[in-house]
Amino acid sequence: MNQDDINKKKAAQAALKYIKDVPVIGVGTGSTVNHFINFLADSRGDFEGAVSSSEGTSERLRKAGIPVLDLNAVGTIEVYVDGADEVNPGKQLIKGGGGALTREKIIAAASRQFVCIVDGSKCVDVLGAFPLPIEVIPMARSYVAREMVKLGGQPVWRENFITDNHNQILDVHNLDIMEPVKLEQIINNITGVVTVGLFAMRPADVVLISRGDKIVTL
Ligand code: A5P
Repeated sequence: MNQDDINKKKAAQAALKYIKDVPVIGVGTGSTVNHFINFLADSRGDFEGAVSSSEGTSERLRKAGIPVLDLNAVGTIEVYVDGADEVNPGKQLIKGGGGALTREKIIAAASRQFVCIVDGSKCVDVLGAFPLPIEVIPMARSYVAREMVKLGGQPVWRENFITDNHNQILDVHNLDIMEPVKLEQIINNITGVVTVGLFAMRPADVVLISRGDKIVTL
């Protein structure tokens, strides 16, 4: 395990105290969350199951013996645990590097508390160095790309990738996201956009950052 991976594992472990006595949790997607699922496997007697943000996570949860629940049958989720690609000091995030942004955003919206787990390399002052993922309806891909150019970005089609919802992804480079809420609203309003991976209107509630031996809590 390299140092990044060790830090991801530590951040995942730090999230365990937030799910004590919580019957149903939301589980995100990515390498940090995979560590979290491994920890869950050891404590699976403590809860009823999990709402999953991707087919990949569902498979891992099932392998770990954790029931995967339908959000429609669950209602409000008490705690959602997920990673991020970038985090700013306002707990606003860029997510979607793994392509699961739409289901992640739905779970974040339906959750009372969003606990974000990251290693220190994800922390930035201004969001946008990580290319902003946008899930689009396939026929709208070029149109949305042109609209993103007008906003100052450089969209790149994530070729050979189809989301769990059968859509495509544009990764938008070179955005300096000074007003995350405003940009999220603008991109949400572009026809053909399914989801933008900017989590600003609904940021994380808690961010657990693993740095060396310490866990810093935002
Ligand atoms: C998945 O679509 C993303 O939102 C992930 O949460 C994000 O990419 C973090 O992934 P890692 O934990 O693998 O860094």
